[in-house]
Amino acid sequence: MIKLSPSILAADFARLGEQCRTVLDAGADMLHFDVMDGHFVPNISFGAPVLASLHRALPDAFYDVHLMISDPAGYAPAFAKAGASCITFHVEAADDPKAVIAAIRACGVQAGVSLKPGTPVERIFPLLPLVDLVLVMSVEPGFGGQAFLPDAAGRIAAIRAACRAQGVDPHISVDGGINAETGAQCAAAGADWLVAGSTVFAAPDPAAAVAALRAL
Ligand code: DX5
Ligand code: ZN
Repeated sequence: MIKLSPSILAADFARLGEQCRTVLDAGADMLHFDVMDGHFVPNISFGAPVLASLHRALPDAFYDVHLMISDPAGYAPAFAKAGASCITFHVEAADDPKAVIAAIRACGVQAGVSLKPGTPVERIFPLLPLVDLVLVMSVEPGFGGQAFLPDAAGRIAAIRAACRAQGVDPHISVDGGINAETGAQCAAAGADWLVAGSTVFAAPDPAAAVAALRAL
């Protein structure tokens, strides 16, 4: 069963609560919250106060928080306090990824690890038994609306195979350039969560876009 996590990076921030309610009512399984610090990635998005406001307005939603920031362990408590359900960090931002996972778990939330398109998948294999989620980037992190990098499907398949070999079963999510076609490729390769920003929020009918992606 594919779960859909609409990325609010593509939403109209002046109407954020309303747009999140629309996609959740249409069947979106969670909300993807992209945090960028202008340091780990060359762009700045939004931080914990925005998450806290959304969480107050929509307290029952699952918040899939994607930290594209330096020092993820240092900021995890603020995002957990603001309402994160799962906090995902980048392996490239961590000197000691196992310590970051422990720091996230100590906040009482689920832990995920993400990797950029150029990072060898083997780098996260030792972490597979420790995480709830692997977030495979199918674009360079930092901006919405980029084209899907086709290598991602093979990378998902390799991670799924490594999970099977280790007898573990974290969720595998894919993020960047996801539409009905690329989403279907990733689902076939073993992804069970799809992140989609532009395909959902830039669609003329975001609710219909949610239904189409969830039906994959
Ligand atoms: C990119 C973000 C993505 C982004 C996806 O750095 O992590 O979540 O919002 O946007 P689309 O779906 O437009 O590629
Ligand atoms: Zn993301």
